[in-house]
Amino acid sequence: MGSVEEMHGWTVKMSMQSVLAMVMVFSIIPGAVLSDIKSTQGVQTQQSAQGSTHRHHRLKRGWIWKELLVPEEDPTPRVIGQLKSDSDRGDFTIRYILSGEGAGDVFEIDEYSGEIRTLKKLDREEKAFYTLQAQAINRISNEPEEPQSEFIIKVQDINDNIPQFLNEPYVSSIPEMCPTGTTVAQVTATDADDPMFGNNAKLIYSILQGEPYFSVEPKTGIIVTSWPKMDREVREQYLVVVEVKDMLGLSSGYSSSTTVTVSLTDVNDNGPTFQHNLYTFVVRENAAVGTTVGRIMAEDGDVGINARMTYSLEDDLEESSTFIIKTDPVTQEGVILLAKPLDYETKRRFVMAAEAVNDHIDTHFLSLEEFRDRTLLKIFVEDVDEPPVFLSPVYEWKVPENAAVGTVLGCVTARDTDIVNNPIRYTIDKKSDTTKAFKIDPNNGTMTVAKALDRETTNWHNVTIEAKETAQNHLSSSVVVFIKVLDINDNVPRLARDYQPYICEGTQAGEIIQLLSAVDPDDPVEGHHFYFSMVPEKHINPNFTIRDNQDNTASIIARRSTFTRKDRTQYLLPVMVTDSGSPALSSTSTLTISVCKCQPAGHCPTGGVEALALSMGVSLQTLLGILVCLVTFTDLLS
Ligand SMILES: *[C@@H]1O[C@H](CO)[C@@H](O)[C@H](O)[C@H]1NC(C)=O
Ligand SMILES: *[C@@H]1O[C@H](CO)[C@@H](O)[C@H](O)[C@H]1NC(C)=O
Ligand SMILES: *[C@@H]1O[C@H](CO)[C@@H](O)[C@H](O)[C@H]1NC(C)=O
Repeated sequence: MGSVEEMHGWTVKMSMQSVLAMVMVFSIIPGAVLSDIKSTQGVQTQQSAQGSTHRHHRLKRGWIWKELLVPEEDPTPRVIGQLKSDSDRGDFTIRYILSGEGAGDVFEIDEYSGEIRTLKKLDREEKAFYTLQAQAINRISNEPEEPQSEFIIKVQDINDNIPQFLNEPYVSSIPEMCPTGTTVAQVTATDADDPMFGNNAKLIYSILQGEPYFSVEPKTGIIVTSWPKMDREVREQYLVVVEVKDMLGLSSGYSSSTTVTVSLTDVNDNGPTFQHNLYTFVVRENAAVGTTVGRIMAEDGDVGINARMTYSLEDDLEESSTFIIKTDPVTQEGVILLAKPLDYETKRRFVMAAEAVNDHIDTHFLSLEEFRDRTLLKIFVEDVDEPPVFLSPVYEWKVPENAAVGTVLGCVTARDTDIVNNPIRYTIDKKSDTTKAFKIDPNNGTMTVAKALDRETTNWHNVTIEAKETAQNHLSSSVVVFIKVLDINDNVPRLARDYQPYICEGTQAGEIIQLLSAVDPDDPVEGHHFYFSMVPEKHINPNFTIRDNQDNTASIIARRSTFTRKDRTQYLLPVMVTDSGSPALSSTSTLTISVCKCQPAGHCPTGGVEALALSMGVSLQTLLGILVCLVTFTDLLS
């Protein structure tokens, strides 16, 4: 058993176990009396300077027991202390009563001796201290021997908790090639034990896995790199295992561990590198512009933006303009495309250099030159049997419309551009020459007139000629021959319409009674020019004259002022129209000019026919008969 301390009215006697390694403070209120009982290896010292004064002037009230200590996790019920009143003479007249937190349940007091004992094991992490009250009652008088006193039982920590890591899982990324000492992550653990008591919650971090690349600061849990050049292209991920231990890392302590996944992020520390120094491709000579000829690939150990590159072709050579190279944004390959049509017969082989350059250059890691690489390309053109090619893309010929059958128009020529140079046969596409107006010599492409032409019927013959190879694949192609039929003066000019001129009675000499014009189906190059004249020219007509207006029109003019129906109702006037062709052609039409009793404005409502009937004084039947004759007569003239 432990020591007995007498404190005025109360005495607390503590078991050895509870006294060991603990601090017990008694206070007395009022009057700040402090008592420390320090126990070291069973030796106790007491400081109670003021306490001794109060021993003689005992206060009836106010003892407060500050702390009793009890170790946690002790499964054996045991006495942890004893309360004793000064007036207790050992005759059991005093009854001790305990109340407050855990009284009767966790703690009990021996009502005769005042011994306080535990009833069960305690857990500091569940409840760190208990506040209790003690009473001493005289069994006879039932009066309190001492004032009720409050005290605290403190549960003393033992290292019964394992440190736990927070915020798991830990994931971190750092750039490859970063300098030694770069912070990677901080791991943090907590320990439920009393951080104020001993080393139960004093944590130390250490590295279990991840050396020599990483190290951890023992107190902070900060993980830093400890290796100078970590290369992502060699290893991308590290699993760093960190252990935390309480008891300042002593082997007796508890420990736990966590894993930090560390990924290295890419930096541009690799340039593009072609795997071959020569790439060979074959492309057909008839490949369309834009056709993919092939793909080349420069390897780059980096990823993402650091692996991006642009390809180019040597631009000082003429041949490289036949091709272009583009970067495939997905695969980062260089795609070679045809930029110009090829011709096997002209050029069969292209040799050029290609270059790949990283888009994002970072001279921290490599020199400028290391961000580029070159290779050689050889592109062979493959021969393809090609259709014949006409020497001219289009032919345009002219032929006079009176050209005789057999007249040679011209000659079309097509060649097989292939090395074998197959002979060619020519034919006319029948759909383009439905009238079969032309012939072509199948062997030499000479086209001739096969039928009389008429410009006034068809002025253009657009004929399709097909050229076909006589051997191999019988490939063919075609060309259009535009044949323009040239005019010759083979049509007579005629008056533009069937004129019905009349002259009003009272018309003055010199007045125009009719304007004439003419038409001609021919199409002279310099345009039409018609000449109008009287027939016969040498006879002077006393009644009318024709004036050529020099603009393809002519006017019939009255020569006297004395025309009356009574005198004569009709005059015949032959008019000759001549064109400007060589030789000139002409026609003569005889106009019938009626004399009319016109209305005041000079208008002849009947066109002269009624005037004739009235002046002749005949019946309607006769008039109709005359009309028929007149029509016949006019028809004969025209
Ligand atoms: C084309 O061949 C025909 C018939 O063999 C011949 O009459 C003609 O002169 C030739 N024309 C040319 C331009 O060779
Ligand atoms: C033939 O070609 C000429 C010139 O291109 C054109 O003016 C004409 O309309 C064409 N004729 C036919 C029937 O296609
Ligand atoms: C001119 O008029 C007169 C009188 O009407 C006629 O006799 C003569 O035949 C006319 N001459 C011609 C050429 O028409």
